Amino acid sequence: MDKGTPKAIHLTAYRPSTHLIDTVDLHVDLREEATTVRARLGIRQNPARAGAEPLVLDGQRLELVSVTVDGVPLGPDGYILSPDHLTLPDTPDTFVLETVVRTRPQDNMALEGLYKSSGNYCTQCEAEGFRKITYFIDRPDVMARYTTVIEAEKARYPVLLSNGNLVGSGDAADGRHWAKWEDPFPKPCYLFALVAGDLRAVEDRFRTRSGRDVALRIYVEPGNEDKCDHAMRSLKKSMAWDEEVYGLEYDLDIFNIVAVSDFNMGAMENKSLNVFNTKYILARPETATDGDFLGIEAVVAHEYFHNWTGNRVTCRDWFQLSLKEGLTVFRDQQFSADMNSAAVKRIQDVQGLRTVQFPEDSGAMAHPVRPESYVEINNFYTPTVYNKGAEVIRMYHTLLGAEGFRRGMDLYFQRHDGQAVTCDDFAAAMADAGGVDLTQFKLWYSQAGTPELRVTGEYDEAARTYRLTVRQTVPPTPGQPDKMPMHMPLVTGLLGPDGKDLPLRLAGEAAPGGTSRVLELRAAEQRFEFVDVPARPVPSLLRGFSAPVKLTADLTDADLTFLTANDSDPFNRWEAGQVLGVRILLGLVADIQSGRPLALPDGFVGAMGAVLGDAGHDPAFAAQALVLPGESYLGTQMAVIDPIAIHEAREFARRTLAERLRDRWLATHRAHAGNEPFSVDAAAIGRRSLKNLCLAYLMARPDPEAVGLAIGQFHGSRAMTDVIAALQLLAGSDAPEREDALAAFYDRWKDDRLVVDKWFNVQATSHRPDTLDRVRALLDHPAFEIRNPNKVYSLIGAFAGGNPVRFHATDGAGYAFLADQVLRIDPMNPQVASRLMGQFSRIRRYDATRQAQMRTQLERIVATPALSPDVFEVASKSLEA
Ligand code: TRP
Ligand code: ZN
Repeated sequence: MDKGTPKAIHLTAYRPSTHLIDTVDLHVDLREEATTVRARLGIRQNPARAGAEPLVLDGQRLELVSVTVDGVPLGPDGYILSPDHLTLPDTPDTFVLETVVRTRPQDNMALEGLYKSSGNYCTQCEAEGFRKITYFIDRPDVMARYTTVIEAEKARYPVLLSNGNLVGSGDAADGRHWAKWEDPFPKPCYLFALVAGDLRAVEDRFRTRSGRDVALRIYVEPGNEDKCDHAMRSLKKSMAWDEEVYGLEYDLDIFNIVAVSDFNMGAMENKSLNVFNTKYILARPETATDGDFLGIEAVVAHEYFHNWTGNRVTCRDWFQLSLKEGLTVFRDQQFSADMNSAAVKRIQDVQGLRTVQFPEDSGAMAHPVRPESYVEINNFYTPTVYNKGAEVIRMYHTLLGAEGFRRGMDLYFQRHDGQAVTCDDFAAAMADAGGVDLTQFKLWYSQAGTPELRVTGEYDEAARTYRLTVRQTVPPTPGQPDKMPMHMPLVTGLLGPDGKDLPLRLAGEAAPGGTSRVLELRAAEQRFEFVDVPARPVPSLLRGFSAPVKLTADLTDADLTFLTANDSDPFNRWEAGQVLGVRILLGLVADIQSGRPLALPDGFVGAMGAVLGDAGHDPAFAAQALVLPGESYLGTQMAVIDPIAIHEAREFARRTLAERLRDRWLATHRAHAGNEPFSVDAAAIGRRSLKNLCLAYLMARPDPEAVGLAIGQFHGSRAMTDVIAALQLLAGSDAPEREDALAAFYDRWKDDRLVVDKWFNVQATSHRPDTLDRVRALLDHPAFEIRNPNKVYSLIGAFAGGNPVRFHATDGAGYAFLADQVLRIDPMNPQVASRLMGQFSRIRRYDATRQAQMRTQLERIVATPALSPDVFEVASKSLEA
């Protein structure tokens, strides 16, 4: 760091702002040489802070032109200017501050604040980007009413947008024009947005349940108008769903979305002017996969739902980020579950949690859902805050029941609409509405690490009782050596010998009630005794993955196979197969490590064959059940991760299954290979995933017939899901046709940037030994753009995060490559550079050689002058671990 080691900010240091800002009047004059921003702020001292204190405004990379207080210009001795602040030592109790600043958005490659994407102006203010637009108290508990006038050249920037309602517009001199926007809702500055550009709108309408007619517009670059249907449909479904499930209506007459190509994250919930990464808007069946369609539906919903959970009720400070993100992810997960297959959605969400959040929770960057300190807030938009945060909300839902949860949400809005609040306020609303004590539950906000549960069961035939003993521990994480037991719901059922759920009666209860129970864990060790149990049952534990934990139970392979066939809880039916799969694969890993010969148990092959034989019954579920546990998840189950052995073990199992069940893979692929008309309903998606899974198994032993099928599908299908699945398999094979297929794909799609991203991704995730050389060469491909985050994530990010066997190659070349790219990107875009560092933060999970290789790269990174705080924080914490 050039400015010395950056300082950490602590939750415990929170104090209300010295001043409040009630009104903001912005005038933004966009010109090719520079942009001028005039801000008129209505400021007063905060009654919550006694005594007059200096006003410290945040501001970065701004050229200050003038400052006036109540219309009186201040000379240079009336204020103190530093790189990050403008300080006014002495101001009245209430006053109007006017500043004029100049910026150069065209030079802004960090994509934070005001910047240009494809020639259009746009903004990204969360978390602390507004300070790059104008001097302000840039913290979410300062909420103001905004009026924004935008002025720009009419021909180049015909569309001028900001938050709220359009209240005026007109032409100005020299071919320029202006528009005035007014947002009636007070908001924190991170929700401010402005867009100016040559964009086309796709329009629709939505009538809210109380009769408000809302104009919906999706703005895209010219030529993309035919790729907005799915996003628009998703938006209308989200609006209807939030009314139906939470009683929440939209609150303005306009809802705008703008899709931009250069965006650090997925999308942003700016009040009435969401800005999206094009990846989460643009889709046609020929250009987007089923995963893309589902991603669009989920992200459109997520940003829309933020209007209540995030905007109407916002965060007091950035430590409370999960207040809006965990809750909104939970809401978008519920929505997607209602729109599609609920079982498949839950399985995929849990897979995501296990492959991304669990590793984070056991690495150098492990942090609680509410972090206690940070150096750079942008580093805390993490799977822990978002996805583990959503699991915490799901546990409230499970503990309180759907109705209790809804009462809690109602109370939360009743108490806090229009306020900036904390996770404690949310917990209090839930506790009060549910009449429950959530004191211990709140440890989920402060303790990091994935809790581990060990469950044993004992059946007493004479007494007809079944006793479960549950022990929980929470592993130490950086800065948190000792943990307390957590409060969590363990949803449990018992299966009788006929495979049916038994009615459950706990000792002390008068009568049985239900076949699934929410057992509440609170202690390090707890016992639950079921009475009247007619025969030794098989327990179905943690149904629906009712808590974000690692569970170990004393179930035999036969018990697990029984659950795979019979569990009434679809998640656990899938999970039983995964537990079996993990056992077998970790056994193979151990065999590889000690040089023993490999064999796949017949019972496992038989069980997979049975699922496949029955696949026609529920293709979507079968497609999930037939996927072996992923390499990253298997790593989380090992004391020391051995990425090469994991890969070899999994590939051995896949090849064996391919061979032993070859006829069934073929038959099932053929049964679904006909070109049915394209639709993105859950059943059609399920059929396509099953078909492509069969092809993947066939290509695990790429004989000419399998390769022929892949090539046939690659050339014959019009749906990107099928085309890319085939291309991925060909690209990972030695088939001579692979280069032709890659070239044909590029040639067909070279003008569609999002599809070209897929082409990079396929090559970066290929398991072929020459992949790193290929990735290096692709950095120089004319279609690669180092400044475009989607391109960086598709090539560099996909290689580091999605190709463990090549990234963790024993020579350490993958690590050196990643460090080179981080250092190259950091001066342009620290957020993107820092996101690439994720793999390094898992350093202590690997063997000594890999640790030393990673350390070499991390030391090289921290020794680099002018490193961003973003990368510095991850690198230095990784070295400490
Ligand atoms: N609030 C956004 C969301 O969850 C996240 C986001 C978008 C973001 N862009 C960002 C966060 C840039 C930090 C920086 O939907
Ligand atoms: Zn969000």
